[in-house]
Amino acid sequence: MDSEAEDSQSNAVYGVYNENLTHKTILVGDSGVGKTSLLVQFDQGKFIPGSFSATVGIGFTNKVVTVGDVKVKLQIWDTAGQERFRSVTHAYYRDAHALLLLYDITSKSSFDNIRAWLTEIHEYAQSDVVIMLLGNKADMMNGRVIKREDGERLAREYGVIFMETSAKTGINVDLAFMTVAKELIGRSVELPHEPKFRIHDVTQVKKQETGCCSFT
Ligand code: GTP
Repeated sequence: MDSEAEDSQSNAVYGVYNENLTHKTILVGDSGVGKTSLLVQFDQGKFIPGSFSATVGIGFTNKVVTVGDVKVKLQIWDTAGQERFRSVTHAYYRDAHALLLLYDITSKSSFDNIRAWLTEIHEYAQSDVVIMLLGNKADMMNGRVIKREDGERLAREYGVIFMETSAKTGINVDLAFMTVAKELIGRSVELPHEPKFRIHDVTQVKKQETGCCSFT
């Protein structure tokens, strides 16, 4: 093999940074769970407290993250959680490589809606999409209504990664995006054609068991 061919093969195998290769990552979850705040914390390292202004439509931020020797460009899309924007955001699921699905640990309804979100993801996203469940606002210990174990149990049930985060203090925010980047690199190196989380299989089973799901 000549050295040029060798180089191109090692680039393919080890995923050396290619600025044209972006991994589309989408933040989803009910309105007010902290999607915009999580992205601002990750991108700018700050939290803007105060009045809540709901996202209208959808927008993205590019961020290059380094995992070991490998650089990964994440194109992170912040979606509007409000029901009236749902049809707009569905269109963006199709070519997503990763989805960060958020609930608010102080809001039972945002946690209860996670199953319905996963059903939507099943319907609109690709079967090998990386999914991460995030219990946000972990700094609000006094207002907590969803135990950490409940989040862990739900994530285990659906075979997705789980973490609690705080967009306010920054806890686990970088780690969440790093984990997504690692997972995306790992997949392209180890099993390029094999989805790891078979979310479609799981949601199929759930549908048969419960006849669910829709948003309330
Ligand atoms: P939509 O744009 O409507 O989908 O909402 P969103 O999910 O983007 O929520 P947003 O980031 O706008 O946050 C909603 C409210 O929660 C704001 O008042 C934030 O300041 C607050 N908030 C977000 N994350 C945290 C957090 O980790 N801790 C605390 N204490 N407050 C947070």
